Amino acid sequence: MKKTISIRDLKVGMTVTGVDKNWFETTLVSHHFTIRSNEDIRRLEKNGIQKVSVEFDPVKEHKTTPDPEHKISPKQVSSPENLASSINEGSAELPEPSPKKCSEIEHIQKETATVLEKSFNDARMGRTMDTKKIREMVRETIHLILQNKNSTSFLADISGNDDETFLHSANTMMLAVGYAIRKKYPEEEWMAWGMAASLHDLGKIFIPGEILKKPSRLTPEEWEQMRKHPLLGSQFLKKSPEPDLRNLAAKVAVEHHERHGGKGYPYALDLPSIHPVSQGIMVLDVYEALTADRIYRKGMIPHKAMSFLLQSTMGLDQDISRTLANMVGIYPVGTLIGLAGGEIGVLLGYQEDNVLTGMAKILVLFSASQTFLEKPYTTELAIGTNERHFPTYTTNDIGITHKQMINHIRQFSQHSQK
Ligand SMILES: [Fe+2]
Ligand SMILES: [Fe+2]
Repeated sequence: MKKTISIRDLKVGMTVTGVDKNWFETTLVSHHFTIRSNEDIRRLEKNGIQKVSVEFDPVKEHKTTPDPEHKISPKQVSSPENLASSINEGSAELPEPSPKKCSEIEHIQKETATVLEKSFNDARMGRTMDTKKIREMVRETIHLILQNKNSTSFLADISGNDDETFLHSANTMMLAVGYAIRKKYPEEEWMAWGMAASLHDLGKIFIPGEILKKPSRLTPEEWEQMRKHPLLGSQFLKKSPEPDLRNLAAKVAVEHHERHGGKGYPYALDLPSIHPVSQGIMVLDVYEALTADRIYRKGMIPHKAMSFLLQSTMGLDQDISRTLANMVGIYPVGTLIGLAGGEIGVLLGYQEDNVLTGMAKILVLFSASQTFLEKPYTTELAIGTNERHFPTYTTNDIGITHKQMINHIRQFSQHSQK
């Protein structure tokens, strides 16, 4: 059952399915997630959200002990009727966010990065790594992706400014789990994919921070040092008491910078002699590194990164790159995209699991002369075919601010609800 409640009545454990703001007006990647801590509630407050739609079970709620932090008196939750009265008048479900099937991806990404930071630091200090925690995050990711196969199409939007190795490893892990599931690898191998991806750059703990974080080009000597991380990571993992770490994860760590034709390092192996999991993770690793913001450059937009992977002579497996393109989409949700007649619209979401062949829903906002349409409208577009490339824009290109665009979308939403 879904109800709309005030944010003051929101409690840890509740599942939020909608908020009183347009998806574009918040910094939240998803408007559908479970409240895990009071920090999540504060995040909603910071976004100016006052009301949320939640899934709730009146019978279960009836038994819940009220949280003193939230202003619901025991009397209010003492019966389903009273619970209903603590819910805002009208109780209408808020409009579903666009895209509808968002997930808890941002939360998992951030938490994984934190867990990896701690584990990598423990390893650096000679302490035992808490791999149980990393496994927990991989398990949560598996669960998330099984619930919402399009989760990974949002990855491109969520890179932050945190320490890049951990965020990069977290993103690569999420892509790897998504990839293993999509390629129908046996279920019992998904965890090993996730663990290998989480730890593929573990060897960087042995590389001096000033090299890792250097904003300018590395000198040949610094490169020499950097190129040691696959071997160092692998040597470390080989000593692990956990079989999947000392075997597969150690293999992926040492092989993830090898390339087709022996163009990689440390051993200049050719693709056929590289483990299939390493071949997969090396593509995801490069894609993540290209699209994420780094100290020294802005991340590449996904469709450019994808053409780079598909056309370049980077020595990566092309089939794996194509599977990745199907998974994350060449045009991510939120892209401003040019249509055949010159009009420009916002990509609201994909209708199918395969984002390359599936139809995308577009809200057309701008005329061919790049002025706001008086009456925006939604349309469907087959944007996945490789033969067609659509121009993309930023709000800057069109000469408006992001806020102006949001206001226009808001007006459209209000108009279409009447
Ligand atoms: Fe690496
Ligand atoms: Fe990497």
